[in-house]
Amino acid sequence: MNPQLVVALDFPSAALALPLAQDLVGLVPWVKVGLELYLAAGAPIVEQLKAKGFQVFLDLKFLDIPTTVAKAVRQACQQGADMLTVHAIGGGAMVEAAVAAREAVCPATRIVAVTVLTHLTAADMPWVSPPLSVVAHDLACHAQSWGADGVVCSGHEAAAIRASAGPEFLLVTPGLRLPEDAPGDQARVVTPAQAVRAGSNFLVIGRPITGAQDPTAAVRRIMETLTGAQP
Ligand code: C5P
Repeated sequence: MNPQLVVALDFPSAALALPLAQDLVGLVPWVKVGLELYLAAGAPIVEQLKAKGFQVFLDLKFLDIPTTVAKAVRQACQQGADMLTVHAIGGGAMVEAAVAAREAVCPATRIVAVTVLTHLTAADMPWVSPPLSVVAHDLACHAQSWGADGVVCSGHEAAAIRASAGPEFLLVTPGLRLPEDAPGDQARVVTPAQAVRAGSNFLVIGRPITGAQDPTAAVRRIMETLTGAQP
């Protein structure tokens, strides 16, 4: 599949998120609703964004006992999420319960498992012995065996995961920055073009677009850098 741009609408209200979303209509296919916007605006924000024609990535990163996660997935499905996240570290029973709930309610919704968050470095997790790239790769392989449609991974790990998981597995990559962008709290960053070359399918970008003086110009600049970028 062609790489798809996903704009992370990390805003404290629908009143701030919706005007930007309106500017992005026809320019980007996906928007991401994360914890901040969902907690501020509630379930109606998913419907409001879908009414504008977007596919909605509901990124609430479920991590709980299998029954609770399955019930949360059912709610997310009923609210119209086109893609949602669970944490791979929740383990096989939890991811399988999420997948089973999805099958029952919204078979077309993708479930992607978060491997290692892109702000983390080895120094943040001294209790983990293998390199984070190995941890992310192993979590991705397990998530695939548990039935996840894909994983969220940094661009640093995408190529190795793609090589192991094959062409159909979805790789969703945040932590993307052009060379001139501030990394913010992200640590394992790559450029959008590097992520595409590594095999990422979904490019999740927030602040470089939402914080730009001209967000649509920022989107166009990012898209220009993707011209010719091939896995
Ligand atoms: O502003 P920025 O481009 O850093 O936003 C990245 C988005 O992707 C945020 O909404 C963040 O919650 C999300 N994300 C991430 N790392 C992950 C999973 C999701 O940065 N591993």
